[in-house]
Amino acid sequence: MTDEKVPVDAEQAEADEQPQQPRADEQQGTDEQQGTDEQPQQQQADLSKLPRTLWWQYDETDGLPGVYIIDQTRLPLQGDVLVCRTLEGVILAIKTLALRGAPALGVGAAMALAVWSENESNHTAAEEYLAALDIAAQKVSEARPTATNLAWGANRLCDFAHDYVAENAESPDLLVNLKAAVVELVQQMAAEDETTNRAIGAAGAPLLAEGSRVLTHCNAGSLATVFFGTALGVVYTAFDQGRVSHVWVTETRPLNQGARLTAWELSVAGVPNVLITDSMVASVMAQGWVDAVLVGADRIAANGDTANKVGTLALAQLARAYDIPFYVCAPSSTIDSTLSDGSLIPIEQRDPREMEGVNASGIILPDNNDAARALDTLTATGEKELKLKNGHQMLLSRKGGAYSFDAWFKTTPPGVMVYNPAFDVTAARLITAIITEKGVFYPNSDGSFDLA
Ligand code: MRU
Repeated sequence: MTDEKVPVDAEQAEADEQPQQPRADEQQGTDEQQGTDEQPQQQQADLSKLPRTLWWQYDETDGLPGVYIIDQTRLPLQGDVLVCRTLEGVILAIKTLALRGAPALGVGAAMALAVWSENESNHTAAEEYLAALDIAAQKVSEARPTATNLAWGANRLCDFAHDYVAENAESPDLLVNLKAAVVELVQQMAAEDETTNRAIGAAGAPLLAEGSRVLTHCNAGSLATVFFGTALGVVYTAFDQGRVSHVWVTETRPLNQGARLTAWELSVAGVPNVLITDSMVASVMAQGWVDAVLVGADRIAANGDTANKVGTLALAQLARAYDIPFYVCAPSSTIDSTLSDGSLIPIEQRDPREMEGVNASGIILPDNNDAARALDTLTATGEKELKLKNGHQMLLSRKGGAYSFDAWFKTTPPGVMVYNPAFDVTAARLITAIITEKGVFYPNSDGSFDLA
């Protein structure tokens, strides 16, 4: 896993004068929409400065393919792109949350297998290739336990490969053609992800009244998908229709995906947003300032019980208490119809250090030659760990001409016991509707959904 840089921070993107490639799906607008009849122009979300979260790319020098991933552990302060050329590289990106968000994980899992297929598999017989592919798929599916999309993406690619071999068994170039088809499939899956999210947006937007104040949790935005987002896909679509006035963004402890990722992407897109801590939700709702809650999902059981970022359950209960509609927005690939209810969803437990301290990373700007020389010396043989008091940690590194630090500051007393589940399960009866690319699903009279 190596890394590169792209200008993904809001200010840099703002200052970037390079002409943007027009997106094929960009709204052209009629004369009427463009305001030639002097109607006030509707504000539009500008997604042109948001990066794609991951993509397949060939290296210009050696021609080898890699999975290119925006490193979400460092956003929004640094816009690093990880280049993963092996299965293990992508798995590491998934485990460290550099790549995260259920729909992005689905495509990431498939791309992990495609990069293995291109760069690491050296089989001569199709049967051996398929057996090794199945083992690789198992590994990537187990990288994290809760998001069902990981297994969905890996299984989709495996099923495709098995079918391909069965249908082309007599072909003399079977493996070569199969590998090419696998690469085509993952690129198609990446494109489909955006189409699916736009369909979720189109299905969900009409549920919001004009000028709604929406609350969201964690990041179910463009960064949680290949592009566009699920819950934020609904926000972007609804904002363009005048249905969203602003978004309440919960910080989402312990890793602050709301504060770091959602607040960043909404701001880059020009959608007004206000950051609150997770513990402020009740107070904001009690004052009548929230019209709807929109969240994503990591796994939805057949009855509608939904696993999502920890804290979602409390939001749903508060929404019910204050009579606020609570919508779950997810692609149908997040529905695990093999599980009858949410008690069967495995919940990821994460490293206690996520709660025992805070991470910070940034760029150091040496303001004179002596400072630059000192940093050069410290980082001459690679990353340099500084010795700090109180268990704090700081790593200095240098890439190109830039000096960076990655730090972890301990904020808790020594030996404190920690419980750190990444997700919780919201009972179906607390969910007003589940929005997928197939439409809006409402509960039965007993509060359960028929999603199997
Ligand atoms: O741990 P993460 O960041 O991978 O968790 C996923 C999430 O961000 C949320 O739970 C999200 O709502 C579901 S993914 C669209």
